[in-house]
Amino acid sequence: MPAFLPAADFARTRMRRNRRHDWMRRMVSEVGLSTNDLVWTMFVVEGAGVRTPVSSMPGVDRLSIDLLVDAARRAEDVGIPALALFPVIDPALKTPDGREALNPDNLICRAVRAVKAACPDLGVICDVALDPFNSDGHDGLVIDGYVANDETVEILARMAVVQAEAGCDVIAPSDMMDGRIAALRDALDQAGLRDVGLLSYAAKYASAFYGPFRDAIGSKGALKGDKKTYQMDPANSDEALREVALDLAEGADMVMVKPGLPYLDILRRVKESFGVPTLAYQVSGEYAMMRAAADHGWLDWERSLLESLLAFKRAGADAILTYAAFEVAGLLAAK
Ligand code: PBG
Repeated sequence: MPAFLPAADFARTRMRRNRRHDWMRRMVSEVGLSTNDLVWTMFVVEGAGVRTPVSSMPGVDRLSIDLLVDAARRAEDVGIPALALFPVIDPALKTPDGREALNPDNLICRAVRAVKAACPDLGVICDVALDPFNSDGHDGLVIDGYVANDETVEILARMAVVQAEAGCDVIAPSDMMDGRIAALRDALDQAGLRDVGLLSYAAKYASAFYGPFRDAIGSKGALKGDKKTYQMDPANSDEALREVALDLAEGADMVMVKPGLPYLDILRRVKESFGVPTLAYQVSGEYAMMRAAADHGWLDWERSLLESLLAFKRAGADAILTYAAFEVAGLLAAK
């Protein structure tokens, strides 16, 4: 029961008074969305001048490094704080041990170096997980049909150092192995990379909403089975708090909830329980379904996009990873 239980006399209390004028609505609004809240998630491919559309994500392209750098410059110009980069690895380089992930000249490392050289003040966030590199499509090493935790963590710690040495500012492990935050922190510190941050995908669910992402990086066909032995059960929310608590204790600087819109309750609980920088990921499937409805004329794309991102802010997100970041920055500037 709310403490401010109003008298049942609507003639005295008229909620619509505060909604009557635009200036009044702006004055009493509780949260806002700004370009500072946006992280632009992007896919990078080999080649030069290459831009290939992701068919399940209209408006999203995989970009070669030169075009990625152009986009990074535009992102910086409009005030987007950071990019989150995901590589599309040549299937010929995918192996069961994902060893290409440890190559300091792999696609993601070259992309990071190029973006940081062009835009030193733009943040670069890299994903740590084996799925772009693994012929099994899993985030870790598959041993006897099971994604082996500790063996995976060892590889991921080396992967994090390789990416950080390429210039990545924040390492974002999305693999959901146990104990990887502590292992990555130790590995980074031992490599003299103490100021490289860790953004933990702390509450990451085994979700059907990642489908278009797996199309985009080409891991869908490769994936054997599902990721339910390491990603969380969508039924659970107390467990998310435990995951976040562990990752913070292990040294995470920021935490993330993923997916976004269907998990705003988790976002709210995490933000309220810990009060730490909390990000949310508007994942590929969220983008795809809104975009598909808009392309059919069933939703207003711009309004539904802004409304969904505002909902993340209301639920407690400090920042949101979204494929639409650049477009949203334009919409916010035009307001
Ligand atoms: C891989 C990873 C995934 C996403 C980000 N990092 C997919 C997965 O876990 O299968 C999904 C992002 C999206 O759907 O937009 N570790």
